Amino acid sequence: MKSIKVRAYCSSANLGPGFDALAVALDAFYDEVEIKIVNGSGKVFIERIYGPYAEQVKNPSTVTGVIDVLKNVKGVHLDDVDIVVELYKGVPIGVGLGSSGASAAATAYGLSHLLSLNLKPSEVVYIAGLAEAYAAGSPHFDNVAASTLGKLVVLAILEKEIIVKQIDFDTWFAIAMPTKNIFGEGKTKMMREVLPKTVELRKAVANWSRLAIMITSVVQGDIETFGKMMELDEIVEPARSKLIPCYKEVKEAAKKMNSLGVTISGAGPSIIALTKSRGHAEEVAEAMANAYSKCVEAVPIIARTAPGAHIV
Ligand code: HSE
Repeated sequence: MKSIKVRAYCSSANLGPGFDALAVALDAFYDEVEIKIVNGSGKVFIERIYGPYAEQVKNPSTVTGVIDVLKNVKGVHLDDVDIVVELYKGVPIGVGLGSSGASAAATAYGLSHLLSLNLKPSEVVYIAGLAEAYAAGSPHFDNVAASTLGKLVVLAILEKEIIVKQIDFDTWFAIAMPTKNIFGEGKTKMMREVLPKTVELRKAVANWSRLAIMITSVVQGDIETFGKMMELDEIVEPARSKLIPCYKEVKEAAKKMNSLGVTISGAGPSIIALTKSRGHAEEVAEAMANAYSKCVEAVPIIARTAPGAHIV
């Protein structure tokens, strides 16, 4: 028998103009996946799901999805072994913090090690991202890229591969997180359906130039400009924010506390702000959660940028 236990942190995708292309790993929550490989006949057993958000897991489809993708896309031979999985679900589901992505990243990273597949990080991201389709309805690579590599990640999705670059980024974020999954199942799918199918060239230019400035700003250590760009998304935030209760009020509360930038975390409904320090993040998160709670119950969360998936 061989076994491994991997931790992967939650993440926040998009950060404004970086829709599907930018994400950050955050240390607020993590999942752990323990995988055992035993002699068998190609079966998968989910032996235990535990942890604070375990009861929210209806079906650990991203975990089993990774195994399916390894077999069907990568041609990994698993017919003479059984895979036994225990999942610690520490990332809340459906709040825009990459919960299924964390499980998928930990599983893909763990299996790559356990089966000596020696996958490159971009291949782990590709496999975990395809597995996301089992939970989110379509493949998503941004959350899994952040949970796999850690810190800030930028990615380009090509036909059969992902180009992903990690950038060192050490900072604090404030988050107002609803305590319930206010949109129910299929939230990401619904939040993608509200997006425009075509985009005016002027808006596309605005977004991609701002994204380029964001990345350059991080490289140059100019966090203020990164934050300023974060809240200037002309395409996704305007469409989605209409569906998020009290969005305007939460954003204003963060701005009043001098946050550096505010936007929707992933597909929402959590709202995330860039801050200057841990203390500042605490103040901003408190103010945002208070404003959010006028519409839906929300809690303040602070998070520092987190490392990538790793064996524990
Ligand atoms: N970038 C994706 C979206 C993340 O915003 O739809 C989904 O979790």
